[in-house]
Amino acid sequence: RVAALLEIGGVKIAKDDVVRESDPTNNVPDSIFSKIGLQLHRRDNHPIGILKNAIYEYFDTSYSSMFVKFDDLCPIVSVQQNFDEVLVPADHVSRSYNDTYYVDAGTVLRCHTSAHQAELLRAGHSHFLVTGDVYRRDSIDSTHYPVFHQMEGVRVFSPDEWEVSSTDATSYAATNLKKCLEGLARHLFGAVEMRWVDTYFPFTNPSFELEIYFQEKWMEVLGCGVTEQEILNRNGRKDSVAWAFGLGLERLAMVLFDIPDIRLFWSTDQRLTSQFSAGKLGVKFKPFSKFPPCYKDISFWISDSFTENNLCEVVRGIAGDLVEEVAILQRRLIIYFLWQVKLIDNFTNKKGMTSHCYRIAFRSMERSLTDEEINQLQWSIRETVQTKLHVTLR
Ligand code: PHE
Repeated sequence: RVAALLEIGGVKIAKDDVVRESDPTNNVPDSIFSKIGLQLHRRDNHPIGILKNAIYEYFDTSYSSMFVKFDDLCPIVSVQQNFDEVLVPADHVSRSYNDTYYVDAGTVLRCHTSAHQAELLRAGHSHFLVTGDVYRRDSIDSTHYPVFHQMEGVRVFSPDEWEVSSTDATSYAATNLKKCLEGLARHLFGAVEMRWVDTYFPFTNPSFELEIYFQEKWMEVLGCGVTEQEILNRNGRKDSVAWAFGLGLERLAMVLFDIPDIRLFWSTDQRLTSQFSAGKLGVKFKPFSKFPPCYKDISFWISDSFTENNLCEVVRGIAGDLVEEVAILQRRLIIYFLWQVKLIDNFTNKKGMTSHCYRIAFRSMERSLTDEEINQLQWSIRETVQTKLHVTLR
C-alpha cells in the first residue's frame, strides 16, 4: 500500500532511499514513510487544509496579498537547512537520532518549516508563508504525533519602516509580530483565552510562544520572535530586521473544530471526513461513540539505549494508529483505535538496573474491546520490545 515512488514539488522520492533499516545512519520507519506525500494541508475539505486557507485569507486581506505562499516544498532537507542555517547549536538535543528522523547523516525529514527560512531569504523574498508536514520522533498522546503540519511566516522590514517610529528596530518588529498574530487569532477564533509566554529559540531573539486554553490545559500553538540578525546578515539582508513565526496547524485545528485527539486528522473514516468541508471554519466535530479503554501493563529492565520514543515506535508498528485498520483475530476491526503509553513505575535496584513499567491503554471508538483480542497485540509488543529495544522483560 505504500507507494514506492513519490513526487513532491518536482522532487522524486524512492522508498528505498528513505527507509533503510540496515543503515545505522537511517532511522525512518515504514509507518513514517507512508505519511510523506499525503499533504493534508493541500486538501481543501480536510480540517488542516480548511485552516490553512483561512490563515491565507487573513494574510491576503490584512496585507493586500503581499505574502508569497509555498506549500509544496519537499520535506526531505539537509542537516544544514534544518539546523545550521537557523543557528541550532551543534550539540542541541533536537539534532539527536532520538528526536529527529535521519535519512542519512546529512539529510533529515524536516522537524520544522523554519528549515526553509534561509533559502527563501536568499531567493529575495521578504514576506512569505511556508506550509508543510514536519516530522519529530516523540512520544504519542492526544496532542503529539510524529508527523504534523506547520505554517511558517516571515516578514522582513527595511530601515525606513522603523526609522519613522519612535522605537528601535527590534521592538518595532516584536510589536508588529504580536499584533499580526493576535489579529490572526481573532480572525480564527473570535474570542479564546490566550497568553504570551517568553521562551527561547536559537533563531529568534526575543522569542515568544502563544498558548491557548483547551481541554483544561494551556496548549502551545505557535512559536515566534524577532529573527536573529546573523540569519539576515548571512542571507543578504544586513540592514533589515525581520520577524518569524511557526504555527502548529493541528493544535489550532483541534481548538477550532473541537477535535479531541491529534491522530484523528489521519482518519479516512467517512463519519469523520464528511463532517468537514471547504471554507467552513466553525463546524464542531461530533464524536460518534465513546468506549472504555482496555489496559495492559508491560515491565522490563531498560538498557542504556532505551527511550520512550522507541517504545512508542514499537507499539505504533504493531498496533497502528487509531486511524489505521488493525487486523485482530482475523477481522478487520477498528477504525478508531487509540492507544496511549504511560510510565507508571520506575525504580533502580541495588545492582543499578532500572525497571520501567508502562501502562498501555487500548481503546476503540466503535465498541468495547475484549481482553483476548488485546492480548494478541500485547504479546507481539512484548516480543518486539525485547528483540528490538534490547530490554529484559520482567
Ligand atoms: N520552528 C519553531 C518550532 O518548530 C517555531 C518557530 C518558528 C519559532 C519561527 C520562532 C520563529 O518550534
